[in-house]
Amino acid sequence: MTEMNASFKLGGILLSKERIHERTAEIADSISREYDGKRLVVVGVLKGAVIFMADLVRMIKDSVDVRMDFMAVSSYGDSSTSSGAVKIIKDMDTFAEDEHIILVEDIMDTGLTLSYLREMLMARNPRSFKTCVLLEKPERKKAECAIEYRGFEIPDKFVVGYGLDYAGKWRNLSDIWYVTEG
Ligand code: IMP
Repeated sequence: MTEMNASFKLGGILLSKERIHERTAEIADSISREYDGKRLVVVGVLKGAVIFMADLVRMIKDSVDVRMDFMAVSSYGDSSTSSGAVKIIKDMDTFAEDEHIILVEDIMDTGLTLSYLREMLMARNPRSFKTCVLLEKPERKKAECAIEYRGFEIPDKFVVGYGLDYAGKWRNLSDIWYVTEG
């Protein structure tokens, strides 16, 4: 995670709710085409992905049999020295074998969380496995991890809103904001 000091306040809007909505609809269209007539388990990583996932699944066409599931994870080590090992706080309930799975994350920062989860879930032999990430910070990337559905690439700024938080705050904002110190 991006290093953080004492306190932050909202800086400005990086992505408006309209842009997020438009891009989410495009992703939902691609998913609808790809999984037409199939059963699809959409797995959200709590808590950051909840709002994005709630919008995304409602835009996927009815011709896809969508199921929802969740995982909760936390990374070992403090925020500035992510070790890459991820602790599973809550696993998904679905038996993954033979399912088409899309893992939904709010943001890929270093990529350590996503690459760990990808490897772990692929080992369960799903019929197919893809990742859908709303935001990616390419400048911060440490681990290679394929992202099949990507919302936006953003600069190396700490962002909040639309599910993303700073110390638990601001998840409920409709737009995505960058924060400033002070
Ligand atoms: P990674 O393992 O470094 O890719 O970390 C991913 C996790 O760090 C995300 O799921 C978020 O919980 C958190 N994170 C990284 N950057 C931000 C940010 O800008 N705002 C809010 N959370 C972030």
